[in-house]
Amino acid sequence: LRSTVLGCGSYLPENFLTNDQLATMVDTSDDWIVQRTGIRKRHIASEGEFTSHLAVKAARRALDSAGLEPKDIDMIVLATATPDNTFPATAVTVQNELGMHHGFAFDVHAVCSGFVFATATADNFLKAGQARRALVIGAETFSRILDWEDRTTCVLFGDGAGAIVLEAREAAGTVADRGVLTTHLRSDGSHKSKLFVDGGPSSTKTVGHLRMEGKEVFKHAVGMITDVIEDAYTATGLGSDDLDWFVPHQANKRIIDASAKKLGIAPDKVVTTVDQHGNTSAASIPLALDTAVRDGRIKQGDLVMLEAMGGGFTWGSVLLRW
Ligand code: ACO
Repeated sequence: LRSTVLGCGSYLPENFLTNDQLATMVDTSDDWIVQRTGIRKRHIASEGEFTSHLAVKAARRALDSAGLEPKDIDMIVLATATPDNTFPATAVTVQNELGMHHGFAFDVHAVCSGFVFATATADNFLKAGQARRALVIGAETFSRILDWEDRTTCVLFGDGAGAIVLEAREAAGTVADRGVLTTHLRSDGSHKSKLFVDGGPSSTKTVGHLRMEGKEVFKHAVGMITDVIEDAYTATGLGSDDLDWFVPHQANKRIIDASAKKLGIAPDKVVTTVDQHGNTSAASIPLALDTAVRDGRIKQGDLVMLEAMGGGFTWGSVLLRW
C-alpha cells in the first residue's frame, strides 16, 4: 500500500500585520525584517478564532479539492504546538466540527516539524491498513504565545493552517508510483533551551511565551535539514536533480536558500511563501504546498521534497510523488 495525496487546502486568518505596522509596536524596521528573514507580513487570528477554527477551514478546502466528504475520512492527525485547550486534542475538536463521529483523531506535537511528523504518522497507519483515508493538518496560532515586546521573536511568526488528504492505494512499490515514497524523522532534546515556551500545564507557569536563541537555531538548521534529505536520497536512490519541487518549512528565507544551495537544488524548484505569512510552524509546509498546487506549479506525478526543523530540536523529511 502507498499513501497517495488526493487533495490539499489551506487557510490564513483575515487580519494581518505588515512589517511597518510591527515597527510601531517594537524597535524594528521593514528593512531589517526583510533582509534577515524575507518576511513581509504575517496573519493574526482574531479574538475568539482558535487553532481548531483555522484547521477546520483548511480541512474543508482539502476535502473539497479531493472531492470527498468528512464521512469518507477515518483518521485525522493534527500537528500543532498551540492547541485550543490542554485537552482534548484539537484534532478531536476538528473531527466534531466536521460532523465526524467515526474513526479516530489525535494531535502530534513536534512544533515546526509537526507536519512532517504528522504525515509520517498517517503514512504508517495507512500502510499498515489501520486506516483508509487520512486528513493530515498543520494548524497554529503562534500569535498567542509570542512576547509582543520581544523584537527578536515577535517579528518572525504568524497564524495559519493547511491540510492534505491521503488515501491508501495499492502500488507496485517503485519510485514512479504516486504517494509518499519515504519519511525520515529525528529529534534531540539536548537543544531544548534554544527554542522553547517558558510555561505549560505541568510547569510553574501555566501559560508561557516563545523563547529563542535565533543564532543557535540558524547554526544547526541547515545541517540538520540536509541530513534528513540525504537520508531520503539514500533510501530511494533519488537525488536533488530528480526533484521537481522543494517545499521546505517556511521559517526564514535565508535558511531555505542556504539549504537548497547546499543540496544543489535549483532556485526555481524552491517553493517560498514565508514572505506572505512568516513562520506558521506546523502550518507552513501545507500552506506552501497548497499555494504551489493551486497556482499550477505542482502537478500530478511531480516529485516533491518536504522538510522541516524546529523546537526540540525535531527535524525530518518526506519525499513524495504528488
Ligand atoms: N529588528 C531590528 N533589530 C533586531 C531585531 C528586529 N526585529 N531583532 C534583533 N535585532 C538586532 C539584535 O538586537 C542585534 O543588535 P546588536 O547587534 O545591537 O546586538 C542585531 O539585530 C543582530 O541580531 P542577531 O540575532 O545577530 O541577528 P541575526 O542575523 O542572527 O538574525 C534571526 C536574527 C533572523 C532571528 C536569525 O538568527 C534567524 O533567522 N534565526 C533562525 C530563527 C528561526 O528561523 N527560528 C525558527 C526556526 S525553528 C522553528 O521554525 C520553530
